Formats: sequence, structure tokens, C-alpha cells
Amino acid sequence: MFNDQKKTEKNGPNHVAIIMDGNGRYAERLGLPRIKGHEEGMETVRRITIAANRLNIKYLTLYAFSTENWSRPKSEVSFLMKLPGLFMNKFLPELMKENVKVETIGHFDKLPLHTKKAVSHAKEKTKNNTGLTLIFALNYGSRSEIVDAVKEIVKDAESNKLNHSDIDESLINRYLYTKDYPDPELLIRTSGECRVSNFLLWQISYSEFYFTDTYWPELTTEEFNSIINEYRTRERRFGGLKEDKVNED
Ligand code: FPP
Repeated sequence: MFNDQKKTEKNGPNHVAIIMDGNGRYAERLGLPRIKGHEEGMETVRRITIAANRLNIKYLTLYAFSTENWSRPKSEVSFLMKLPGLFMNKFLPELMKENVKVETIGHFDKLPLHTKKAVSHAKEKTKNNTGLTLIFALNYGSRSEIVDAVKEIVKDAESNKLNHSDIDESLINRYLYTKDYPDPELLIRTSGECRVSNFLLWQISYSEFYFTDTYWPELTTEEFNSIINEYRTRERRFGGLKEDKVNED
């Protein structure tokens, strides 16, 4: 995985992860209820998915609902749980046209039935698409993902499916929800907050970060394109040295 990432970095990113923040503040600024911000945020999901696909980005992971979001008011949680259904109802034909494949990471089983149904339907419909893979992090928390992975590893060790000496970084990767995806090269967070909020903690070890003050509902295709262009100017060293410095001494 590490070597693959080094190879693709010139034309990358291959995988972009986004913490979509600022929906509530966007709505409050307009004097609207918070859920209007989430509704508008759904349109941004469509816009940025299409933009990412056009840029030949292969994976886009969006933090749609965290394990901590259950502590929000019941009415807001209930609306957030309706969003995947609303989104798929409105945009599934367009996702098909764009050749986008829908997947999820997180504790899927604990979502309400109507949310699971809408998402499962979209996953099934789009499973043979070969363009961008749109990964919704739904009921996702990175620490809980790591706890789940450790439990599975211990279980497999106890049943002699693996040994102590098998445990290395690539084995741990294979026990995470993200086992089928490369690590994100770029993590974007909107709304001016500079936190990681329990998102992909293992996977972003070497990611570049980009923080924008723009609220998620206001993120335009132009700004997204310019973030990607800015990323492409960065030099990623993975803890090593600039290439021209390696042979200096
Ligand atoms: C954070 O903004 C945003 C969320 C918790 C929800 C994100 C969801 C969407 C953008 C729509 C997802 C769409 C689909 C299809 C699942 P916030 O409410 O924390 O904003 P604030 O910090 O300004 O209050």
C-alpha cells in the first residue's frame, strides 16, 4: 500500500477524505433551522462527488454520521438518518450515469432499518460501477473501528488462524473497515475547525491536511478543484528527505 501510494502521488490524490462540517452554522447564519443546513449539505455531496469523479479521484470518503453524533437532539438525529434515503432517491440515477459506486464504513447494523434499506439498495445498484467509489462513513468512529479490529485479531489468534509473528501494519490494515481502500492522501475539513474528530485515525497517519473556513453547504466545485491543485504542489516525504537531499552528504 505504501509503495503504491508513492507511485500515484504525482497525479493524485487517489483517495480524498472529507469531514463535512458547518451545516448547522450555515443554516443558523441564514436564520434557518439546522436541518436546512444538512439538506443543503446533501447537494454539496452531489456536487463534490461529481467534481471528484471528473478529477479522476478513485475514492471519496465522507464523514456523514459519527458514533458521537447520536448525542445530538433526537429530531436532528432522526433527520440525519433520513438523509441517505433522500440523497439516494434524488441522485441515484445520476450516480449511475456518473458510474459512481456507493459503499459504507461504520457500524451499519445499528442504523435504522429505513436508512439501511436505502443505502443497501444504492450499494447493490452501483456495485458494478467502475468510476469513483463514494464511501459514506455512517455511524463511524475510528477508535471503535480499531477496537473491533483488535477483537477480531485476538479471536483469530485464539483459534490459531494467526500467530503473534503475523501481526504487522499490513495485517492490521486488513482488519479495518477500510481494508479494500488505499489510505487517503488528503484529508479536508470545512468550516474552520481544525480537528480530526475520531475520523480514520490509523489511515491518515501520512495524509496531507487541508482546512478551509468555508461551510460545507457552500463548498463549490471551483474551491474543491483549487484544493486538489494546491495538494498537487505539496511534496510528500513520508518521514524521509527531499529527493535532492538524499545524496547530499
Ligand atoms: C456536521 O455539521 C455535519 C454532519 C454531522 C452531517 C453531515 C451530513 C451531510 C453533509 C449530508 C450527508 C448526506 C448524505 C447523503 C448522507 P454540523 O451540524 O456539526 O455543523 P455545525 O458545526 O455548524 O453545527
